[in-house]
Amino acid sequence: MKNSGPNEKGLLRIENANKSFGGVHAVRDVSFEVQEGVIQALIGPNGAGKTTLFNLITGVFPLDTGHIIFNDQDTGDKKIFNLVSMGIARTFQNVELFTGMTVLENVLVGLHVRTKCGFLGAIARLPNVQREEKEAREKAMHWLDFVGLAHAANNKAGDLAFGWQRSVEIARALASEPRLMLLDEPAAGLNANETGQLGDLMRQIRDLGVTLLLVEHDMSLTMEIADRIVVLDQGAKLSEGTPREVQADEKVIAAYLGA
Ligand SMILES: Nc1ncnc2c1ncn2[C@@H]1O[C@H](COP(=O)(O)OP(=O)(O)O)[C@@H](O)[C@H]1O
Ligand SMILES: [Mg+2]
Repeated sequence: MKNSGPNEKGLLRIENANKSFGGVHAVRDVSFEVQEGVIQALIGPNGAGKTTLFNLITGVFPLDTGHIIFNDQDTGDKKIFNLVSMGIARTFQNVELFTGMTVLENVLVGLHVRTKCGFLGAIARLPNVQREEKEAREKAMHWLDFVGLAHAANNKAGDLAFGWQRSVEIARALASEPRLMLLDEPAAGLNANETGQLGDLMRQIRDLGVTLLLVEHDMSLTMEIADRIVVLDQGAKLSEGTPREVQADEKVIAAYLGA
């Protein structure tokens, strides 16, 4: 992890981001920064533009106007694959795994953006990739162990309970060795016990030096683990600050009570 003094520019900078879908102005002139090494949360009512912002950050679709700067590079002209190799990984609001593949194979997909021969070489099983393949499996097992799933490595991903499928997605994201991880509603569908474990896991990930930006509806989890919170409402930034500051902001209270 690089040192980032308080005055250093953020690892991720969203600058006047705008995105419309037809007549829906999903993201309105949003600006904020994410400092390296923090857990930052993005909250707001349904339809506020949170997932759209994640899709913009990860290059799923382009901005209409504005800039997204990651590690001092404008992401605007980068393809999704390049963004992953630049160090941005994500999980999805609706878990997206290859359900017919094993848990281990799902994590290997995340890893192959880092191996020299890449995913296609791995599929072709070229002779020179076999040693790399073995190392990749060891690394994938390491990340499965990290999320508590080493025992299920050879199970079919689709056969796991929902909460564990989320953990596979997190392991796959970690396997790409990201500097920034985006988690879209990681606690959705988890019970209280699983949510507590997820909070611990997110802290452990942060302690590895990975910066986390999460969208989360579970307010007690968010208030407990986030160093900083950005609040969106109807596409625009409504508030920003520490959990305590945001919780006390009249505008935030009104938006949530009104929703
Ligand atoms: N791919 C898309 N095509 C059309 N409209 C979209 C698309 N993605 C999001 N929207 C619209 O943009 C708005 C914000 O959605 P979203 O970013 O999913 O909100 P959130 O994640 O905060 O609930 C909503 O009105 C949604 O219907
Ligand atoms: Mg969403």
